[in-house]
Amino acid sequence: MKKVLITGAASGLGRALALRFAQHGADICIADINMEGAAETLGLVEQAGGRGWLYELDVRSEANWNALRDEVGQRWQGIDVVVNNAGVATGDRIDAGEWAWWEWVIDINLKGVALGCRTFTPMMKQQGHGAFLNVASLAGLMVAPSMASYNATKAAVVAISETMHFELQPYGIGVTALCPGFFRTNLNHGMKTSDPDMLKFVDKVFAASALDAADIADAGYQALQRNQLICNPHPVGRRAYFVKKYLPWLYRKHVLKMANALKQREDQRNAFKAGADQPLGR
Ligand SMILES: NC(=O)c1ccc[n+]([C@@H]2O[C@H](COP(=O)([O-])OP(=O)(O)OC[C@H]3O[C@@H](n4cnc5c(N)ncnc54)[C@H](O)[C@@H]3O)[C@@H](O)[C@H]2O)c1
Repeated sequence: MKKVLITGAASGLGRALALRFAQHGADICIADINMEGAAETLGLVEQAGGRGWLYELDVRSEANWNALRDEVGQRWQGIDVVVNNAGVATGDRIDAGEWAWWEWVIDINLKGVALGCRTFTPMMKQQGHGAFLNVASLAGLMVAPSMASYNATKAAVVAISETMHFELQPYGIGVTALCPGFFRTNLNHGMKTSDPDMLKFVDKVFAASALDAADIADAGYQALQRNQLICNPHPVGRRAYFVKKYLPWLYRKHVLKMANALKQREDQRNAFKAGADQPLGR
């Protein structure tokens, strides 16, 4: 039976990945800060024929990670797969929002993944096998305007994964970065943004996604089996990345169009605000 640890497994993609591994009868450590959602995932995993156990983990805490590694060592005497999936979202122009939101998203999305990799690599090296599935995003390969902090964390996860993919291959350890575009989960619920239109935008692109969390989990699962470095599951994401690499003038035109539309919206909002601030009678 495969021993699989998944962070952020209380919801969305993490839950879908837990169910995907459960179909193959895996034993799954469902690690999250949300224990209520984690317990729901465990019920679904058991219904799907898998086994699992819950662990309260804040991916920002090195002490939490060390304690989880000790627990894994005692229960399983080793590990097959670590899925670094837990993540949060931010979306703002570079000069908007709060600096604390940068720190928050970096601590969870970037340092949380790095800690997960650092904590479990020695165990995998010792046993001579293992695999990491690091959940990045299409935002790690492409850069939509008004998302600098989120883009930065996901580009970093791609960089960490690419580094590890080669560094750890001689040890028999696989590393895959999963880079989906938008799909519906609870990611928008805790999103930090000062832009009133950002949540509407996210809702729109969630609805437009051709793939759901189960499809993304399936693509990530398959890529991990092949030790594929990058998994870019959305067809539209693959087209966009192709354009960025091979048709840079078209890429530039498209991203500038998005940036101009954002500026126009900001100008309209500012004009409306300035009008509203005028004393009556002027
Ligand atoms: N939904 C999308 O459109 C999309 C697109 C690309 C990438 N992703 C990535 O997929 C991953 C999963 O997100 P999701 O879309 O399923 O969102 P989600 O909000 O449904 O799930 C995220 C999970 O992470 C957990 N989490 C948050 N902070 C944590 C912490 N400090 N420690 C432990 N757990 C924590 C949450 O409790 C939640 O269960 C994220 O890394 C996200 O960036 C999502």
